[in-house]
Amino acid sequence: KKVVLAYSGGLDTSIILKWLQETYDCEVVTFTADLGQGEELEPARKKAEMMGIKDIRIEDLREEFVADFVFPMFRANTVYEGEYLLGTSIARPLIAKRLVEIAHETGADAVSHGSTGKGNDQVRYELAVNALDPGLKVIAPWREWDLQSRNKLIEYAEKNQIPIAKDKRGEAPFSVDANLLHTSSEGKVLENPGEVAPDYVYQRTVNPEDAPNTPETLTIGFEKGDAVSVNGVKLSPAMLLTKLNELGGKHGVGRLDLVENRFIGMKSRGVYETPGGTVLLAAHRGIESITLDRGAAHLKDEIMPKYAELIYNGFWYSPDREMLQALIDKSQELVTGEVTLRLYKGSVNVIARTSPFSLYSEDLVTFEEGSGTYDHHDAEGFIKLQGLRLKTYAARARLMAQR
Ligand code: ARG
Ligand code: SIN
Repeated sequence: KKVVLAYSGGLDTSIILKWLQETYDCEVVTFTADLGQGEELEPARKKAEMMGIKDIRIEDLREEFVADFVFPMFRANTVYEGEYLLGTSIARPLIAKRLVEIAHETGADAVSHGSTGKGNDQVRYELAVNALDPGLKVIAPWREWDLQSRNKLIEYAEKNQIPIAKDKRGEAPFSVDANLLHTSSEGKVLENPGEVAPDYVYQRTVNPEDAPNTPETLTIGFEKGDAVSVNGVKLSPAMLLTKLNELGGKHGVGRLDLVENRFIGMKSRGVYETPGGTVLLAAHRGIESITLDRGAAHLKDEIMPKYAELIYNGFWYSPDREMLQALIDKSQELVTGEVTLRLYKGSVNVIARTSPFSLYSEDLVTFEEGSGTYDHHDAEGFIKLQGLRLKTYAARARLMAQR
């Protein structure tokens, strides 16, 4: 028997590793993805080696993550419940895909993950695995074992010579998930939504109050809806997002303190930092504002919440998400050009946009005299007919008031 484990190298997944070996008497293959979480991954290899793992896989998936998951999602201007940029949600399908592929490569019978039985992540991993290989088994130790308290976990780790970082002996202050798109923090000190989040929760953005006193201007180039350059320099997707994170983080852009509805049914409070993503969203809306037809733009905005919900709930690999993606991608064919933005003390604003395919017509909109293609008189009939039903309705209201 063989199991592929999504292994971060942290305490929880190290305990899971040991627990799988003991409980299932199986060979474990560890898979650790570099999604730009900004952590050293070599210690994960060391730890896995120490626990007798022979097949240790560490992969840099940053470019694939941004090009094939983050960018397609940003084409839709995706936000969940009006605010959350889905930094964790969009990473799970990629991790699940690699788990399944590695299971196939190694002839494993199951995959395993370290998500709890209360959260969204378990759902995302498992729905993705269902979609990619309906026969593959998933082991979710958090739902099986009796190590429900921190003390029991620590006890188990000590009994099995699993190294515990000093700060993990006491309660970890909160739970973090990080990648190139965001850092999320949940739990512990954040659990009471009536309490202000302490400043130390924030990890990749400065407090807007402490951000530079002079604004910074930058230009992002787009091709077919995807960002391709910053300040005229072409960058790969992952390098581009890295650059935007740096600029956004420095100016305190992209902080969010949110109570959201988990798919499972409970509300949860999270603190998110999405500096580059927040800049990218504003820029993408900026380039769309001159390149998209109104009907196309409004239709996209209507389907966006549905698309966001599919991603949040773990349905990345589903026919409905793929149908919506096809619609969104079709809309992006001429979303090409440049957007200039200003970052200042936590805010990001579009201040200029240009495109070779712009639909913006200065001649049409000008307050001065245009070339005459627009006839002011046409507006009279337009308004008259738009107003017809309002007049009819108002007339009846008058009659009824007199009765
Ligand atoms: N609540 C966010 C989401 O559902 C973040 C989840 C963070 N996950 C984690 N394992 N710490 O997408
Ligand atoms: C977890 O429960 O493992 C993290 C939180 C979530 O998945 O929503």
